[in-house]
Amino acid sequence: MSNRDALIEHAIVARNHAYAPYSRFFVGAAILDEHGHIHTGCNVENASFPLGACAEANAIGAMIAAGGERISGIAIVGGRDEPERCLPCGGCRQRIAEFADEDTQIVIAAADRIEYFTIAELLPDSFSLEP
Ligand code: THU
Repeated sequence: MSNRDALIEHAIVARNHAYAPYSRFFVGAAILDEHGHIHTGCNVENASFPLGACAEANAIGAMIAAGGERISGIAIVGGRDEPERCLPCGGCRQRIAEFADEDTQIVIAAADRIEYFTIAELLPDSFSLEP
């Protein structure tokens, strides 16, 4: 199985655990870090709506907690029923940009097609600070 296929499979498994009773929009994300390890996250909503967390944010948190520092690739799978084209929200584009490189592959997997983006395509002219 290629890295890309493994990432999509992990994102699908994470999506199956999503807690989204309010939007009924279920999202899973899987990150391949610089060590070759995979970290996953799903969206977790809350009755107090602004407290909900996106799948990508939770996957990034899992990566950092496990010692990963860079995103080599990230797969995102989301939708209400069958996976549909689910691009990361604006906030998650900025979160991904924090840990992505110019060749980081952002894989958007829908039921009928797979698309690939770079962070520069999704978030051109982005804000950054030197740490
Ligand atoms: N969602 C994500 O998990 N990632 C995104 O990039 C877009 C939106 C979640 C948040 C919320 O739980 C649901 O999808 C509907 O917005």
